Amino acid sequence: MNDQVTPQETAALLDLANQALSVPGDFVELGCYRGDTSILLGQLLQKAARPLYPCGKAVENSGKTSVHPVENSCKNLPAPVGNLCKTLWIYDSFAGLPEKTREDASGAGTNFQSGELFVTKREVTDKLRRHGLKISSHPLTDTSSIIVKKAWFDQLQAADLPDRIAFAFCDGDLYSSITTSLQLVLPRLSPQGIIVVHDYNNPELPGSARAVDSFLKTHPDFTLKVHYTLAILTKKC
Ligand SMILES: C[S@@+](CC[C@H](N)C(=O)[O-])C[C@H]1O[C@@H](n2cnc3c(N)ncnc32)[C@H](O)[C@@H]1O
Repeated sequence: MNDQVTPQETAALLDLANQALSVPGDFVELGCYRGDTSILLGQLLQKAARPLYPCGKAVENSGKTSVHPVENSCKNLPAPVGNLCKTLWIYDSFAGLPEKTREDASGAGTNFQSGELFVTKREVTDKLRRHGLKISSHPLTDTSSIIVKKAWFDQLQAADLPDRIAFAFCDGDLYSSITTSLQLVLPRLSPQGIIVVHDYNNPELPGSARAVDSFLKTHPDFTLKVHYTLAILTKKC
């Protein structure tokens, strides 16, 4: 049960993530909190992970066994030359929210103060494991996995992020957190990549929309679609 993202938003988010499976690069979630959305994204990648055979065909994934579509009657399958395994990189301070800035000022309530939404990294990694997901410290080549990073977003180093990003879920609630997330994702985003920012149009968290709108002013090559409180950013073709 996720108390941060509605069921409709979750369905829309997973639909977008599904579309990004064919885009080169990994998935990232900036602001994972208890890991509820991370579990769903991780399961999506786990289900989609499959080896790539020399003919370039995608393989059928029947449960745990990957079957080459053309040669499934052959005992000696060709060796896979690569894989479609993506890694999910998730980030959080695991110290709750940082301080609000003036861009977060809202007449709609005084929630989301510094230190709120605190959860430990251990709680999240244990939960991910309980859901059958693999935690790793670096991307794995033969299966999908989740890399969990504890850091304030503005302290992340290049090595903490994947080289290429296919899908980014930015859910840091506040202006500075969303702005930093977009700055981190942008140079790594694949041409067909998708960025989803949560809380656009959420009157309690106006900093999210302000961060997206500022981003769009300086990046006119991006288009914005809004679905519920999800801001969907993609590069214009
Ligand atoms: C709304 S919750 C994320 C919910 C989660 N995506 C989900 O769907 O269940 C926001 C999280 O972002 C984290 N966060 C916000 N700003 C951050 C920052 N600047 N650096 C690191 N973590 C941050 C908070 O600690 C919090 O756990």
